[in-house]
Amino acid sequence: MDKVLVVGGGGREHALVWKLAQSSRVGKLYCAPGNAGISSQAECLDIKADDIYSLREFAKYEQIDLTVVGPEVPLAKGIVDAFQKENLRVFGPEKAAARLEGSKRFAKDFMRDNGIPTAEYKVFSSYLHAEEYVRLKGAPIVIKVDGLAAGKGVFVCSTVDEAVDALKKAMKDRIFGEAGDKVIVEECLKGEEASFMAISDGETLLPLASSQDHKRIFDRDRGPNTGGMGAYSPAPIIDDILTDEIMQTVMKPVVEGIKKSGTVFKGVLYAGLMIVDGKPMVLEFNCRFGDPEAQPILARMDYDLYELMNASVDGNLSTVNMAWKDKPAVCVVMAAEGYPGPYAKGKIIDGLDAASQMEDVTVFHAGTVYEKENVVTSGGRVLGVTALAGDMSAAIKRAYEAVSVISWDGVQYRKDIGARALVKVEK
Ligand code: AMP
Ligand code: GLY
Repeated sequence: MDKVLVVGGGGREHALVWKLAQSSRVGKLYCAPGNAGISSQAECLDIKADDIYSLREFAKYEQIDLTVVGPEVPLAKGIVDAFQKENLRVFGPEKAAARLEGSKRFAKDFMRDNGIPTAEYKVFSSYLHAEEYVRLKGAPIVIKVDGLAAGKGVFVCSTVDEAVDALKKAMKDRIFGEAGDKVIVEECLKGEEASFMAISDGETLLPLASSQDHKRIFDRDRGPNTGGMGAYSPAPIIDDILTDEIMQTVMKPVVEGIKKSGTVFKGVLYAGLMIVDGKPMVLEFNCRFGDPEAQPILARMDYDLYELMNASVDGNLSTVNMAWKDKPAVCVVMAAEGYPGPYAKGKIIDGLDAASQMEDVTVFHAGTVYEKENVVTSGGRVLGVTALAGDMSAAIKRAYEAVSVISWDGVQYRKDIGARALVKVEK
């Protein structure tokens, strides 16, 4: 039986651990650093997700058969290259390919060079030139910092003043540090957003089930952007025809373009899309599973995730016949008071057992830790309550039934996760 190490400690990593634990080939699971929920299925290690050296030493010492990297920071720092140097098997893209997520400038130039549809843009390293360009273009306009900023480095500005303010924050006040040394000023696209993921072995690309994320903190998509307040799968907007178009115009050109540049893209490629007049335009790339999207997607996966990941590492994806449950899945994120700003920690969570025992419900943990015998909050996004059901409205109902039995002081969550999917179905 194989030993697997999952790197990360959020809802996505709990879903990965939960799904990997179902594989008949997986004997022992480790997770670094993990969380309270993960600790019931994996041995959690006191190693940070971006401590590549310690992770590699652990994998060597324990003879780990496969390391699965959840978050973007270790990928951008080159964890895959570091493991490969020691002949350790690892799921995810190499550093050069992970630049698609780690540098927005790289991603935009790559899209331009490979004919991948995206918003018009210009890159600036001088504040004055950026401001001049914003004034010339007018609003609405989008400002993005080049480097990783934990999902907070994008400003969709409805006025020129807002855009100038965003430029000042990034380039003068340097609130994102060196991630804001370069800024992208981008045309604002109007349409419906969707997330599309595919798994690659460097040659073959298999689409994963479609999904949609809810980025804003408040109902009806109001308030600031977050890492994601909930998600559902499938996304009705992405039908078979659009799937094919996204594969042909976005996903395959990425894998081919990366190959041309002298490296390979292995792992999960995630495209954040705006569907404009029925056509996909790329907003961003991620080089990993989305979080929370991974939670409803993995709940629906009818295939051994461990086999799938090994096929990506070994270049055997062409032999894989992926299957998905027909049932839709909905994940409602329960977050701490104050998130996505500063938030409280250490609140005792009630009702976890009752919710977990509900049929077709899985409570994925994100920011949780054990404090004596209690599970307490330790992060902004705390839980991802995920339910499967015969149709989307039943899945939404089921997820919220489970949410309603869980509580802590200051809990917040959106009440409209999945509602967008119903509007589409009824059309
Ligand atoms: P990103 O991290 O690049 O996906 O951006 C975060 C969010 O900002 C996206 O999910 C969109 O809601 C929004 N966004 C990014 N780029 C654009 C754009 N060019 N036009 C309109 N909205 C955008
Ligand atoms: N939910 C968006 C992301 O994982 O980046």
